Amino acid sequence: MNNLKNDLFLKALKGEEVSRPPVWMMRQAGRYLPDFMKLKEKYDFFTRCRTPELATEITVMPIHQVGTDAAILFSDILVVPQAMNIEVEMKPGLGPWLPHPIRTQKDLDQVIVPNVYEELGYVFDAIKMTKQELTNEVPLIGFAGSPWTILCYCVQGQGSKNFDKAKELCFTQPAVAHRLLQKITDTTIAYLKGKVEAGVDAVQIFDSWGGMLAPTDYQEFSWNYIQQIIDALKVEIPVIAFGKGCWFALDSMAKSGAAALGVDWTCSPKNARYLSGGNITLQGNFDPSRLFSPPAEIKKMVKQMIDEFGKDKYIVNLGHGILPNIPVENAKAFVEAVKEYEFN
Ligand code: CP3
Repeated sequence: MNNLKNDLFLKALKGEEVSRPPVWMMRQAGRYLPDFMKLKEKYDFFTRCRTPELATEITVMPIHQVGTDAAILFSDILVVPQAMNIEVEMKPGLGPWLPHPIRTQKDLDQVIVPNVYEELGYVFDAIKMTKQELTNEVPLIGFAGSPWTILCYCVQGQGSKNFDKAKELCFTQPAVAHRLLQKITDTTIAYLKGKVEAGVDAVQIFDSWGGMLAPTDYQEFSWNYIQQIIDALKVEIPVIAFGKGCWFALDSMAKSGAAALGVDWTCSPKNARYLSGGNITLQGNFDPSRLFSPPAEIKKMVKQMIDEFGKDKYIVNLGHGILPNIPVENAKAFVEAVKEYEFN
């Protein structure tokens, strides 16, 4: 039972018929919003994540300013390795920076599976505060990175175009890679269960770098661990699995017990429906750069996208996170196009 005033998103996750599809945007909390940039000047990144008042304020910004049908908690996937005793900094202009990357069994020995209530309690507090602030207007999404995507940062030590060092570890020391992946998986399951207890309405797993792996390697180093997370969570809450560049895995993903699958813009709606078997809810897949187009063109393209996916079993989203330099007006046009859909 939920008392949400707008439950389009949860209905779409259940596969129920809707008057129009729900809409939200990956990375909608921050970046392109002027009010977020003001907070960014005052507080560093992890202070914003660790202070429930700030995380709450940022989470609700796009609900009031852009009008999306779901909120996603302001936080980061890299708070998980931080809690596992791996140092993570966010360097302005560079992004994530991990001064002591995990490259050997000795490095791995220092990595712990923490008590998430002790190490990540601030996230659960932020969820409780955000739920109060949202006054049941829209549902709240919690999230985690996939174990593979987290491993990418832990081993590479920073962002990368190809995560070559992460892949090198997998192929030269597979046992170390698998032990690290299992520690991340165990932590993530406890973390997401804590988020459910704190009140999130759905969870999304971001496998942002899954597409770096060849299909068979993907099954071994990424999907097997995502599947463990889905198995542990699916009885409690709808799980969305988003794998960027992972169109080749949509068939196994569709059989996993996930409530919905995220799709990026390199896969057509028709192919995504075909590959996923035609019955599971899909989410995506507007090219984030297309939000640079004039609002009228954005609206036209969004309507076409809905026609192609079909209005049911569909959640309108971007194919990856919104870019920092998108005009707020264009993000609004994206959301408005979906809200106008029922009147067509
Ligand atoms: O809607 C939201 O923005 C919710 C919060 C959110 C953030 N990160 C805040 C953030 C979410 C869902 C994430 C997920 C995340 N973080 C992913 C998966 C999604 C994706 O985009 O692929 C990844 C790979 C990360 C790791 C990460 N965090 C990177 C690579 C960077 C630097 C580059 C960037 O995206 O700006 C971050 C920093 C970060 N996380 C920022 C924000 C708003 C920007 C830094 C800042 O605000 O100071």
